[in-house]
Amino acid sequence: MGHVWLIGMMGSGKTSVGRVLADRLALPFYDTDATVVANAGMPIVAIFESLGETRFRDLESRAVQAIAPLDEGVVSTGGGVVLDPSNIGTMRDSGTTVLLDVDVDTLVARIADVTERPLVSADPERHLREIASARAETYRQAADIIIDGAGSIEEVGRRVEAACSGS
Ligand code: S3P
Repeated sequence: MGHVWLIGMMGSGKTSVGRVLADRLALPFYDTDATVVANAGMPIVAIFESLGETRFRDLESRAVQAIAPLDEGVVSTGGGVVLDPSNIGTMRDSGTTVLLDVDVDTLVARIADVTERPLVSADPERHLREIASARAETYRQAADIIIDGAGSIEEVGRRVEAACSGS
């Protein structure tokens, strides 16, 4: 089967669903944001502020490349991972990409803590809407499987598990 790569907007539940799914499948859990933070030695906000988004994207691609060859697991990715087509190739070569599809009103309601999310911290609602619409097509094209991300973490986790066991 290879890795299950969870992709989607910030607030779509990739990290919480990913943890639940990894638990259910008894697989390791990986997280590209956490890998970037560990490698850079500073939080994401600080990376954006002091190194800039381009450098962040570079670190993010390195995280994808580092996780791809590891033991099969569930991977939560940063929302912008699909912006680099080579990341999409690496993810698909090493497993299945699963989009957690969540409508933008729900994302707005869920993203309470914007301090951790530099791209939307200034005006969360406007930026989330802009980013969601700019990326909508890219997410769909990058996804092997699209899962309805509405509902509880457990529900969404079960949906992903059912979809992946058939793939
Ligand atoms: C980003 C999403 C964030 C993080 C960074 C950029 C994005 O991850 O990688 O703030 O471009 O959508 P989450 O999707 O886990 O919030």
